Amino acid sequence: MCGIVGILGQHEVAPTLVEALKRLEYRGYDSAGIATIDAGKLDRRRAVGKLVNLSDLLVHEPLAGKSGIGHTRWATHGAPSVTNAHPHQAGPVAVVHNGIIENFRELRAELSKDGVEFVTETDTETVVLLTQKYMAEGLGPVDAATKTIARLHGAFALAFLFDGEDDLMIGARKGAPLAVGYGDNEMYLGSDAIALSPMTDRVTYLEEGDRAVLTRTSVKIYDANDAPVDRVVKKISLDTTRIDKAGHKHFMAKEIAEQPAVIGEALSRYLTADGEIMLPDPGLDFTKIDRITMVACGTAFYACLTAKYWFEQIARMPVEVDVASEFRYREPPISDRTMALFVSQSGETADTLAALRYCAGKADLITSVVNVTESSIARESNLALPIHAGVEVGVASTKAFTCQLTVLFLMVLKAAVDRGAITKEELADYVSGLRSMPSLINTALEQNAALRDEAYKLSSARDVLFLGRGAMFPLALEGALKLKEISYIHAEAYASGELKHGPIALIDENVPVVVMAPNDTLFDKTVSNMQEVMARKGKVILISDRAGLDEAAEGTWGQIEMPPVADALAPILYAIPAQLLAYHTAIAKGTDVDQPRNLAKSVTVE
Ligand code: F6R
Repeated sequence: MCGIVGILGQHEVAPTLVEALKRLEYRGYDSAGIATIDAGKLDRRRAVGKLVNLSDLLVHEPLAGKSGIGHTRWATHGAPSVTNAHPHQAGPVAVVHNGIIENFRELRAELSKDGVEFVTETDTETVVLLTQKYMAEGLGPVDAATKTIARLHGAFALAFLFDGEDDLMIGARKGAPLAVGYGDNEMYLGSDAIALSPMTDRVTYLEEGDRAVLTRTSVKIYDANDAPVDRVVKKISLDTTRIDKAGHKHFMAKEIAEQPAVIGEALSRYLTADGEIMLPDPGLDFTKIDRITMVACGTAFYACLTAKYWFEQIARMPVEVDVASEFRYREPPISDRTMALFVSQSGETADTLAALRYCAGKADLITSVVNVTESSIARESNLALPIHAGVEVGVASTKAFTCQLTVLFLMVLKAAVDRGAITKEELADYVSGLRSMPSLINTALEQNAALRDEAYKLSSARDVLFLGRGAMFPLALEGALKLKEISYIHAEAYASGELKHGPIALIDENVPVVVMAPNDTLFDKTVSNMQEVMARKGKVILISDRAGLDEAAEGTWGQIEMPPVADALAPILYAIPAQLLAYHTAIAKGTDVDQPRNLAKSVTVE
């Protein structure tokens, strides 16, 4: 969600703030703004739309000053507008905020009674107005901010700046990430290390409930009980925060192309040369677990759904899978000997984190599969398994999905070995299948031009259906999600066998149907469902291997050939055509591939 940055610097900060916001723009891009202190006075500039609009504004109306805060917004309360854009300011205080102040109505009512007027529709405005009120009552900036923070319910990361206080910035974290960065007589705040990395590689990740009082030369951190605490300063590897398109037109294209390399990297971290599975300490012992509850959102949820097939078929373990926003409020009973497993690229998704906290103390083990190893979900798990995908900037998840699948598959193999569900030979076959994945994906990527042609055909459709059976069903769901989120074409996915129970009514000559069907044991059944579609003039794009296409391509509208792959691993490989179809359809439609409308990466509000 929204991105936050703050700098107490030695030089003019406006350009550096904008540069940092550029790195945070993936978190939200409805509007952006900065505030600085020049000659003791707060001033701000805000603009609707992409960050470039703010940069343009700053050319005409520059902001001077060596201290400042900045924000890139994903609107929660109040439409994207200059008035609703951050930083918000009331008299001597300016604030940027990521998250939701849940009790803002109550605080608004209280302030209104005192005759305070509101100019925005945002929840954040209550934060500046309350701080202003406490300062008017005689509190200094630090005490006023502290008293305000103590009154806030909900999820937030906040950065405060004050009139006349060129050497003071306050940060607070509850339910949304915030990091302090250490420079040379400079100090920074940022939503993540990615924002701060051009300025410093030394950061402290604030803990839940922490408040930080920063000057250029000092940081005092107080915990949720207001006790001063020392937090570790970590050195971050700049490699893990590098953001560039490496010659690609879009981050999404780059991240699709990176998959052979990052999957290879993940495999090298979890497999010994002899094909044994190495998990970080404390290792997992699946003989102590009888069942698994998996929880996630969006694409990560589809990775869990795929893993359910694997856990059940290969390791013979029962698995339940749920979307986090439903799971967290349903109060599901968690039986003994259950492992709760959370999958999240960002590790900060509010619903997934809340689901994890619900399971803490109930499940025998809390495990997570994450990309961001410093994230809340990773830190609150008993065991966090990194997927080693590298920074994912494109809002539509691609390489994180296939790396999640890779790590989940390795967990399945570990479970199967622990529980004696597979033989040594079977394990060796699966491991060798996994090891061939990077090269199979390279072959699949060669279908780029063919997929672009099919995507061009899809781009004039109003609705598109995706079909798959078995573990290809979650992949069909993922294909439909990718297509709708970046091309804005309505897309749905069904388990092939479900088609005739209702959705087949949608089929006519205007509805393209993408069928994901490797030539596996379920192939003939999927082909029967595909024939039912074609019998009703549905236009089928069949994605299969050579043997599958030879058998069933006749009469289809389009065909894409994938290399042959071990049945179980097909979902990882077939993610590539699903991603490229969506990517090229979005290009054909001229939509914004990396920053699709209404979306943001890292959903830290529920
Ligand atoms: C879709 C997409 C989202 C995320 C979801 C969960 O392309 O990226 O559906 O998968 O918001 O995010 P994480 O994995 O960060 O918890």
